[in-house]
Amino acid sequence: MQKLVVLSGAGISAESGIRTFRDSDGLWEEYRIEDVCTFDAWQRNPALVTDFYNQRRKQLLEVKPNYGHIGLAELEKCFDVQIITQNVDNLHERAGSKNILHLHGELTKVRSEKYDNLIYELPPEKYEVKIGDLCEKGFQLRPHIVWFGEAVPMIEKAAEWAYDADIFVIIGTSLNVYPAASLIRYVKRSAPVYIIDPNEVALNNPDWHYIRKGASEGVKELKQCLMLNDKFLMIND
Ligand code: APR
Repeated sequence: MQKLVVLSGAGISAESGIRTFRDSDGLWEEYRIEDVCTFDAWQRNPALVTDFYNQRRKQLLEVKPNYGHIGLAELEKCFDVQIITQNVDNLHERAGSKNILHLHGELTKVRSEKYDNLIYELPPEKYEVKIGDLCEKGFQLRPHIVWFGEAVPMIEKAAEWAYDADIFVIIGTSLNVYPAASLIRYVKRSAPVYIIDPNEVALNNPDWHYIRKGASEGVKELKQCLMLNDKFLMIND
């Protein structure tokens, strides 16, 4: 099976009702990154940061995967699909994708402020974490999120996936944030690159195939480009 590797960003979850970061109604219009998304912010005002992520988790309980996520999961019938996501939501998982690497962490997990390896999955319906919730060694639990200025532990594995791709798909990311955006440099020249995004993204290349649509319609068109359609997928069930 060919290896189809996806780099996804906030745009794939937009049609599910989760706001992106840098669009005109994006989250960074309402919040300042330095107030909620850095380790300094956490040290200065952990209650504010905790509340910000509690709101994100609460919202996640209210939304569902859209056809962008579902269509990518369906591609597993025909491809060895690996998803590198910058998203901290779990909509790829809920759509049924099996191989997912979260570059920027996961909303549904928390970890010890002191011991990075003490990571805890929150119970399914629990979204609220409080100041005073502690790890087993007695330190405050923080969001399991890669904040701006922090190392991105999964980047090496993501680069390996990108390097091994036979087909590379970029969906719903403005490609403004590094090192995630640099993953494209690892993709071999022989691998076709598809970009699904209704808007311009920060990196361009005349060899890439642009699908200027939202995630759901874009993934449908991607399937057509890959000469797949639902009938074909069902035959291969
Ligand atoms: N379908 C597909 N793409 C869409 C849709 C849609 N319906 N709506 C918007 N987009 C596109 C936008 O055009 C934009 O290119 O999604 C992209 C979203 O870009 P950003 O808001 O910058 O999100 P992302 O690239 O994921 O941000 C990267 O930045 O703030 C940090 O850690 C955060 O993981 C995040 C990282």
